[in-house]
Amino acid sequence: MKFRKIPFLTSDCVDNQRGFFKIVLLILLSNFLIMDYLNIKCKIADGNMEITINRPEKLNAINKDTILELGQAFKAGEENSSVKVIIVTGEGEKAFIAGADISEFAHFNKDQGRDLAASGQKNLFDLVENLKTPVIAAINGFALGGGLELAMACHVRIASDNAKMGLPEVSLGVIPGYGGTQRLSQLAGKGKAMEMILTAGMLSSEEALKVGLVNQVVEQKNLIEAARSIANKMKRNSPMAMAAAIRSVNAGYNSSLNGFSVEIEEFGNCFGSDEFIEGTSAFMEKRKANFDAK
Ligand code: COA
Repeated sequence: MKFRKIPFLTSDCVDNQRGFFKIVLLILLSNFLIMDYLNIKCKIADGNMEITINRPEKLNAINKDTILELGQAFKAGEENSSVKVIIVTGEGEKAFIAGADISEFAHFNKDQGRDLAASGQKNLFDLVENLKTPVIAAINGFALGGGLELAMACHVRIASDNAKMGLPEVSLGVIPGYGGTQRLSQLAGKGKAMEMILTAGMLSSEEALKVGLVNQVVEQKNLIEAARSIANKMKRNSPMAMAAAIRSVNAGYNSSLNGFSVEIEEFGNCFGSDEFIEGTSAFMEKRKANFDAK
């Protein structure tokens, strides 16, 4: 990953009025950074990082490099204090992600298959689920296999009305390996997960809404705006408290943790923090809270 060069930033630019305007422009640009990757597009604007998987000719299938870049982008978003919410979507109108890149693993042996699932879960899917920054999946078409698995690792899912979702891996002689057997059961229930996985079938977005797999369905032309609108609601809140809420909710799905105990700890840890003081003071002073630190 590299940041695009901004050629006019020179050391003498502060010496004159033009330099002053250049610095103002630079500050404005820092809120709209574009980062260069090969397989994804990534921009930061208005407190949102928007990540777009950019392999439309392959229906945005995620190969190893794309998974690596996605992991780097999500981490960079979490570490950037100007990023309050991350939105992930696919390029074009046909696919969010049509799955892991089948051509890349078709010849793998058992060990390579195991490594593929383990490294993918660690470097992307678990990373996203446990990110302290809220992540919204804007599902703009096919979300199959690894695509649905990535959407399910996100904290909130919005689907366009043309989207199709499924875990078709058994039709390829394999099973979902990026957390799909677990997260689909958590979101849609064991019975629906079994049906979807064993039939390798796809749900329409309306069906996905009914079973709780997605939070909202909108027309495709309104998808990104709908995701930004949810992001705007999140951005009003304390980033520290949202991170604690994400950890607490996730703890309930981690068999080595007691979600209720984690909630008690996280609740206690909020007290006395800058954001707690700001949030409670703002309420009592009848003003909007201003949570500018992350
Ligand atoms: N891995 C690798 N390439 C993929 C892919 C995947 N998961 N999904 C789609 N592609 C590629 C196709 O091979 C094709 O490439 P080509 O033009 O070089 O041959 C291109 O994307 C377009 O796909 P195509 O199948 O022609 O589009 P379609 O509209 O006829 O069908 C799907 C769309 C999504 C139904 C179909 O592509 C599909 O079934 N994809 C695989 C889904 C899957 O099993 N995912 C789980 C993987 S574990």
